[in-house]
Amino acid sequence: MRKTLLLAGIALCCADVSSTVDAKTPSLPPYKDAGLPVETRVEDLLSRMTLQEKIAQLNQYSLGSNDNVNNNGEIVNVLPPEIGSLLYTADDAVSRNAMQRRAMEETRLGIPIIFGYDTIHGYRTIFPIPLAQGASWNPDLAGEAARVAAIESYYAGIDWTFSPMVDVARDPRWGRVAEGYGEDPYLASVFGAATVEAYQGGDMSEPGNIASCLKHYVGYGASEAGRDYVYTEISRQSLWNTYLLPFEAGVKAGAATLMSSFNDISGIPGSANHYTMTEVLKEKWAHDGFVVSDWNSVLQLIDQGMAPDEKTAVEYAINAGLDMDMVDNLYMPHLEALVKEGRVSEDRIDDAVRRILRVKFRLGLFEHPYVEEKPESERILLPESLETAKELAVETMVLLKNENGILPLEPDTKVALIGPLAKSRMDLLGSWRGRGRGEDVVNIYDGLSRAMEKPVEYAAGCDFEGSDTTGFAEAVKTASASDVVVLCLGEKYSWSGENASRSTIALPQLQEQLLAAVKRAGKPVVVLLSNGRPIDLTRISPAADAVLEIWQPGVMGGPAVADILIGKANPSGRLNITFPYTTGQIPIYYNHRSPARKGTQGRYQDIPSTPMYEFGYGLSYTSYDYGPLTLSSDTCSADGKITASITVTNSGDIDGKETVQWYICDPYSKTTRPVKELKHFEKKLLRAGESCTFEFEIDPLRDLSFRDTEGNPVLESGDYYIIVKDRKARLTIE
Ligand code: NOJ
Repeated sequence: MRKTLLLAGIALCCADVSSTVDAKTPSLPPYKDAGLPVETRVEDLLSRMTLQEKIAQLNQYSLGSNDNVNNNGEIVNVLPPEIGSLLYTADDAVSRNAMQRRAMEETRLGIPIIFGYDTIHGYRTIFPIPLAQGASWNPDLAGEAARVAAIESYYAGIDWTFSPMVDVARDPRWGRVAEGYGEDPYLASVFGAATVEAYQGGDMSEPGNIASCLKHYVGYGASEAGRDYVYTEISRQSLWNTYLLPFEAGVKAGAATLMSSFNDISGIPGSANHYTMTEVLKEKWAHDGFVVSDWNSVLQLIDQGMAPDEKTAVEYAINAGLDMDMVDNLYMPHLEALVKEGRVSEDRIDDAVRRILRVKFRLGLFEHPYVEEKPESERILLPESLETAKELAVETMVLLKNENGILPLEPDTKVALIGPLAKSRMDLLGSWRGRGRGEDVVNIYDGLSRAMEKPVEYAAGCDFEGSDTTGFAEAVKTASASDVVVLCLGEKYSWSGENASRSTIALPQLQEQLLAAVKRAGKPVVVLLSNGRPIDLTRISPAADAVLEIWQPGVMGGPAVADILIGKANPSGRLNITFPYTTGQIPIYYNHRSPARKGTQGRYQDIPSTPMYEFGYGLSYTSYDYGPLTLSSDTCSADGKITASITVTNSGDIDGKETVQWYICDPYSKTTRPVKELKHFEKKLLRAGESCTFEFEIDPLRDLSFRDTEGNPVLESGDYYIIVKDRKARLTIE
């Protein structure tokens, strides 16, 4: 069906556009003059375009997810070269350059195509999933990973990635929690901005820099009951104080584009939402890049019960501010008629085209439309990229439990490595793994075998799910003959990501039974968890001596795990999403509002009301002592500045990286506020015995205010608290 639509679109486009192909202009037109300002070039080019040529720019075609990539070359030959964009699925620059040559040489105006792709946590060098990256609390390192991803993508022919995803998500049943930075708007803002800057570099026209796309605009993370593509009920208050914040930060960081979301935002779907796309993004934030739809999200306005037919769906989307249509192939067949009927203005078309051309000029596509075709050995999986992948994986891992200091292990420990994930490669890559391949991954078995002095004994024990327990006996035997069991449990890569919701966050019973069986060998058990969402650990954590959350750590997962297990690296990840006690607690997140009754009331009768592991939690092999929290003054005017400081000492005997998390609390406000809000954090290496003073420069309007229903910051006078761990200091705003 999709293919039919695509080809119908192409036929129509070719018919429309071929009539406009003309003789080339004799002298160099201003839009081709790289010495002129981008705006001058945009206006000049726009003034030369026919309505059909303009409409062609607003379409993104795909080679199609179901098409065999080997057929790319053939498909490239039938695509209309006047199109604005192509979702590019080949893994080198060859067919891109062939297609681009057609756009540059066979069209009247020679407008380059922008090639987009989902490089989410790496292109071929796959890094930990974004959820894990957030748990590193190290945005600089995440930025280094994004640089590698940008360069690998660029030399594969990609100008534009559909990343970062900055959707705040608080329901771990939703498979897409894996793709974002967790439950906190501030953390997502910092990581989103760092990633945008890293992809785009200072100047997008430099080779190796690509355009970013903040997605999914907006509120997709609020999906009801964790189901995908469903309605979201979001008040203006939550929209402004939770969901829009990371987008605003990404726009400030210079994000070239945004992707409109699938979800229906309190009655107006993201892809037809004038308030979010036009009033907020383009008017209030003055964003001058463009908005692309999500895959088929214009067509889906029909399913969502808004537009009765395709043409009306196009009318709603474009008029709401949606500039480029991803893969629906609906703008091409309907826009011209809509303009002629007066339902869409030519001004709106011009505005959308202007935005797209602006990004193309900024990318330098008119001057450098082709990408150097390099051999794979020079552009992917380079040794320094793998080093970054390992470093980042190490920093994302969160030590949840370490009874009696069972970890780190001595290198001569005899390890029994058990579990369905122990030798898996693909599952360590997670969802949206770009061009990542299983063969690129160093799995846990190989990583550990290289690090340990004695051979690592292996038994799978069981599969990820099902009821086959026949492997348990061998697992117990292997465990009995070892000093310690390292049990690898978790999720398959396909259990999280898009369209991968789960009704429970518990692992399949079979895996929990394997743990119980292996325990019978009487050896200490270290559980390694690999997953794309928080897991219910009520039966796992109490039974284990140590639990290390390794997420989906990417190509260097095995060596990173080994470094932590033998103490070559000290765990420094901290949870960026709450681990509920059970599925029944969802939604549960740290920055909730105060209940009406405190103390023992309002609790669950059957389970604890507190989570299993809270936001910000994570252990280390060393200990950190926090000194008193001091303020440069305990009163401040609204436009003043205050410095908060705290001295932290590494009081153990090994080096470690500590993240100081700064929260604020506004205990009484005309609009109730969360019990705690993260406003600043900093991660630093502290050598054994070293002390370091961490600071937070407080700008009251930025750090203590809340947003009103139009997004304006409101700062009330009165008392606030600055909080670090269990330390609290009162600050009065006069
Ligand atoms: C649908 C997903 O929601 C989006 O995140 C992705 O970028 C597009 N498809 C393109 O693959």
